[in-house]
Amino acid sequence: MRSRARLAGHAVHPMLIAFPLGLLVTAVIFDVLFYASARDSFAVVAAHTTAAGVIGGVVASFFGWVDWYAVPSRTRAKRVGLLHGLGNMAVLVLFAISWMLRLDQPTWQPPVLAFVLAVVGLVVATIAAWLGGELVERLGMGVDESANLNAPSSLARPSH
Ligand code: HEM
Repeated sequence: MRSRARLAGHAVHPMLIAFPLGLLVTAVIFDVLFYASARDSFAVVAAHTTAAGVIGGVVASFFGWVDWYAVPSRTRAKRVGLLHGLGNMAVLVLFAISWMLRLDQPTWQPPVLAFVLAVVGLVVATIAAWLGGELVERLGMGVDESANLNAPSSLARPSH
């Protein structure tokens, strides 16, 4: 089924999730670089990309819930979508706590617990992202009913 929140004929949610996914993965990489090198600049980057990722995730989540709400009840897509959505909300909470734990540290250095929460968040995000792929590729969420290898451009047909 087609997504409810669309821009230029395409679902908004998959457009936006690149930000939280990219930023939060990057944040964990910079945490690892900080622990490996003890350079404060890596800790500063990790803290700020974590904050940006959480903010991006909140925005992306809003459109995810809009699309999920339109999915008919008692379908597998509704259940998988709920798991995917709740999993990703948990991810945002984990990274938000991880960020808060850095607030009173000199040069944003991550305490071990902040790093552990971020790594757990990354594991949950990976599972939740797989469920997102299942929604689209297996269950047809966000796929136009008339999709085919020769379908005309999304911009060529009136949206409804
Ligand atoms: C930061 C949080 C989130 C991330 C990183 C994320 C990630 C993803 C990914 C990777 C996909 C597959 C996209 C594709 O293969 O084209 C997807 C699809 C989807 N997600 Fe999320 N998601 C997030 C939050 C949510 C929330 C809170 C919901 C609410 C239930 C949700 C509902 C959906 C739905 C319905 C789809 C199917 C495509 C659509 O119609 O939008 N997502 N998501």
